[in-house]
Amino acid sequence: MTDDLFDLHTGYVNFKNPIALATMAGITDCSFANKYAIRAGLVVIGSFNLDDKTNDAALKLIARGRNEFVSDNPFEFLKNEIECMGNNNVVAVNVRNTVIEPLLESARIIRDAGGILELDAHCRQEEMVSIGVGEALMHDIPRLVDWIGKIKETGVVVSVKIRANIVDDIALTKAIDSAGADILHVDAMKEGAGADLRVIRNIRDSTKMFLIGNNSINCFKDAKDMFARGADMVSVARGVLNDPNIISELVDDISALQQATGWYNAPKHLCGGEGDLRALAFCCLPVKPCAIHNKIAKLGLSAQEFANMKMAFARGTMLEPGENTCFGSLVWCCKLSKPCFLRDGVMDMIGLSGAEYMRLKKNLATYILENAKVPVNEP
Ligand SMILES: Cc1cc2nc3c(=O)[nH]c(=O)nc-3n(C[C@H](O)[C@H](O)[C@H](O)COP(=O)(O)O)c2cc1C
Ligand code: SF4
Ligand code: SF4
Repeated sequence: MTDDLFDLHTGYVNFKNPIALATMAGITDCSFANKYAIRAGLVVIGSFNLDDKTNDAALKLIARGRNEFVSDNPFEFLKNEIECMGNNNVVAVNVRNTVIEPLLESARIIRDAGGILELDAHCRQEEMVSIGVGEALMHDIPRLVDWIGKIKETGVVVSVKIRANIVDDIALTKAIDSAGADILHVDAMKEGAGADLRVIRNIRDSTKMFLIGNNSINCFKDAKDMFARGADMVSVARGVLNDPNIISELVDDISALQQATGWYNAPKHLCGGEGDLRALAFCCLPVKPCAIHNKIAKLGLSAQEFANMKMAFARGTMLEPGENTCFGSLVWCCKLSKPCFLRDGVMDMIGLSGAEYMRLKKNLATYILENAKVPVNEP
């Protein structure tokens, strides 16, 4: 598989595939990552505690049986961990701290190594939350936004790790986006219910940030379900402890899917209520009452404007023909996963492969979202 099979990048970072190792404190260091995630597109190591207060809290967590990374010299530790990773993967370092200065110091080290700083706004352990760390940041959006802005000023690529269903996910997403973060890493946890896929879909429709979906990915089907809601990448934490080969297997499976279909994270259709806005690429001419009208209204488009937009995109491309299809052009046609002899007949006739059809639909989805009157990430 080639490294450019997926066109995945943000800031100065290029990912070779959309599978990531997610962080587990006291477990995911360089040696763990190199052993179990060498083929991942991204490895997140840490969480590393950067000051006395967070290291003291980590010691309390260890005393009650949890794993944590504790260090007398956090920056030396962090530097050594990044160096030890070599050049095999893109590395993100998940960090916690009670004040901003050490985060800026770590940002400069991580930037110089070409890595990503991941701010931990996720940890829910009382020892951390009570000192204003982890989940406390989700409850203090002004501080979170201020910190993201200051960290971004160092030039480092910034990811923010959050857990869904704690605060208003959309307000949180938009605040993180407008603060300048590059990546949103979402643990889509719903207490007692595994991954909340609707949250990923709703966040996808609210931001253009690179989106990493996380929670309960134990097999390729779990990963595909999250990709189909708009995740650019998925990450695995506990799954690696249960199955040491899972990262490698997911990389093989998603690479095969991308080669066969051309759009590894193609959305569900809108009709079933599960699709995100990218699914407008597969929608019909908007002539009947259905789910499309609410979606295009969200983008500030009338039915006529939407129709004009799709036809303008199709002109001169292989999506333009399709006289015998429902609406006279492939631009209105369904996803390839929906069997249709009318569409397939046109594709055969004009020599359009399935992967090329899906790649054109992907470009169409981008075109619709880029040309919307109301951008999805409007604050
Ligand atoms: C033992 C353990 C430690 C974790 N430590 C951290 C952490 O320090 N920072 C963080 O952002 N997430 C942490 N997480 C959360 C995971 O990265 C991930 O979001 C969560 O486990 C859900 O994903 P999974 O279902 O693939 O495990 C931890 C999870 C586990 C199981
Ligand atoms: S326009 Fe067609 S594909 Fe889109 S929601 Fe309506 S019926 Fe479904
Ligand atoms: S011709 Fe087939 S693929 Fe095209 S819109 Fe009709 S049902 Fe969908």
